Amino acid sequence: MDPIPTIDYRLLVDNLTTAILLVDKNLNIFYLNSSCEALFDMSLLRASGIPVVQLLQAPNDTFDTREALLNTLNTGQAYTRREAIINVNFKDIHVDYSVSQLNAGRPYHPLLLIELNPIDRMLKISKEENLIQQHQVTRQLIRGVAHEIKNPLGGIRGATQLLARSLNDPKYNEFTDIIISEVDRLRTLADTMLGSRQLPSYVDVNVHEPLERVRSLITNQTKKKIKITRDYDLSLPDVKADRDQLIQVMLNISVNAVQAMLEHKDFFQEHKPELILRTRIQRLVTINGVLHRSAVRVDIEDNGPGIPEEILESVFYPLVTGRANGTGLGLSIAQNIMHQHNGMIVCHSVPSKTIFSLYLPWESHHVAK
Ligand SMILES: Nc1ncnc2c1ncn2[C@@H]1O[C@H](COP(=O)(O)OP(=O)(O)OP(=O)(O)O)[C@@H](O)[C@H]1O
Ligand SMILES: [Mg+2]
Repeated sequence: MDPIPTIDYRLLVDNLTTAILLVDKNLNIFYLNSSCEALFDMSLLRASGIPVVQLLQAPNDTFDTREALLNTLNTGQAYTRREAIINVNFKDIHVDYSVSQLNAGRPYHPLLLIELNPIDRMLKISKEENLIQQHQVTRQLIRGVAHEIKNPLGGIRGATQLLARSLNDPKYNEFTDIIISEVDRLRTLADTMLGSRQLPSYVDVNVHEPLERVRSLITNQTKKKIKITRDYDLSLPDVKADRDQLIQVMLNISVNAVQAMLEHKDFFQEHKPELILRTRIQRLVTINGVLHRSAVRVDIEDNGPGIPEEILESVFYPLVTGRANGTGLGLSIAQNIMHQHNGMIVCHSVPSKTIFSLYLPWESHHVAK
């Protein structure tokens, strides 16, 4: 029999999908595992010393969290709360959590162990899977329609050119030119709807490289009307990706942000338009139903008016647009490219804060289904 390996318990705890918090006798946090860091979007360094009640007590909750925690600390009586609402970064999330007492040594030194299970993650996974399925159906539909539009266009263009030649009268050229330019516009639209025909070529890419490219394109385009802030984690590992496609994804999202900010100048009374490009490592992230130990995250954030509420839920669908002359294809194409990369785009939007986060897994093996 193989000898049992010595287990590093820190590593074990850090690989649990359950979020774990340890709290001292003053109810201040002094340890949280990786899942908990991901849940609260807060590093151990930042969370240390914070009163746990601040995280667990939602403003409208009538349950007295402090009282319950103190009771467990003093009596050792554990308790569990189901479907509690906690507020993380101004967003309500639903969790089940259990609190128990832990005696950390002699003399008597009680601590609290809090285990949290976000229920939203389960809800989110099934919602995402649904969305992907619907997305694939719509995508096929769109491609079918684009084909049907494109097929006769070549014939119409050719016939119009023949007509122009046989009429041989400059006063009709204006009309035949209109037909030809409109046909060309439709063909470009149909090509965009059909998507790229080139197969992606996957190479090792450092996400900062395409991101910097997009930054310089946007800087040139906006001529300093928008402040662009970089917040990069330069230690990020490379990902396997198609460099040009990543540029397209980042550009589609950044251009949307720029358009939203420049088209709503009246929104900026007290603050200036700003685009933030942020990169991070994200631990334990579920992408398309697969749990990854870590992923590279790229946030493209703007402080514009936010996505109109009526299209927020369907913003990744093709042909959904909030702009008078938008085609509604930019985000659908971007999401499609990210799916081909085993990644995804998630969006949160409220006035003054819209974040599109791109997730790209970087380790080759999946930890769980
Ligand atoms: N950062 C943002 N702030 C506000 N609204 C946004 C933002 N990003 C996207 N939107 C909204 O989402 C809609 C859909 O975006 P999408 O890129 O898919 O299509 P589009 O920009 O309308 O057209 P195009 O195909 O030319 O990109 C936009 O029309 C806009 O209303
Ligand atoms: Mg767009």
